[in-house]
Amino acid sequence: MRPTLIAGNWKMNGSRAGVDSLVSGILRQGPFGCQVLLVPSFVFLEQVERLIVGTAVALGAQDIDPRPEGAVTGGISVSMVREFGCGYALVGHSERRTLFAETDDQVAEKFKACIHAGMTPILCVGETRAEREADSTDEVIAGQLAAVLAKVGVSAFATAVIAYEPVWAIGTGLSATPVQAQAVHEAIRAMLAAEDQDIAAQTQLLYGGSVNRQNAEALLAQPDIDGALIGGASLKADEFGAICRMAEGAG
Ligand code: 13P
Repeated sequence: MRPTLIAGNWKMNGSRAGVDSLVSGILRQGPFGCQVLLVPSFVFLEQVERLIVGTAVALGAQDIDPRPEGAVTGGISVSMVREFGCGYALVGHSERRTLFAETDDQVAEKFKACIHAGMTPILCVGETRAEREADSTDEVIAGQLAAVLAKVGVSAFATAVIAYEPVWAIGTGLSATPVQAQAVHEAIRAMLAAEDQDIAAQTQLLYGGSVNRQNAEALLAQPDIDGALIGGASLKADEFGAICRMAEGAG
């Protein structure tokens, strides 16, 4: 059985004081019977690492640069975030793809760098509203996935996570319905199964896009949804904690 993972992507939010109270507010509600992952801005990694020490809460980076070191001003490597306790990194979040023009190939390079360092990449995929309306959701996601499969092969997905985040659902308050989300998760699992059935059966697939305490339970109850990648609602300790508790019975 696949464990349920609840991940909070804080995006470009937070302050020293805010991070202290958010993490302590979340920890006060635990321990949780599901995997919990916090993904703060790079500058707060060390602070969060200290706050979660001795707990089962995991730490992740929002992005990484695939180059190992050197003349990359502003870049942050996998080995750097590893030093601060990161076991996970998001790759190919739609905000990176749109705001920073990241290509499928660059995303695949980041994924590969994580795998080579023994870190778990969370590959984000998803369609825009126009793509959904044009009925090309599965095709778009197959393309995003194919770029990574071509670079690393399906075996790399034994230690990876995929997050389906429809672009139209991110930060809009308009989540995919459980039926819509399940259909895409099932399609993603079938894409992996076409390469390797065992790996497809074990890869955790998360849903992301306006997840909150009202809709989380029904989403997490879907058979191919193994957790959630949460933006806005992960910035409120009570709300995030409530979703983690719902996840305890899911899966
Ligand atoms: P929201 O939960 O704010 O819609 O953000 C989703 C997301 O992008 C998580 O990575």
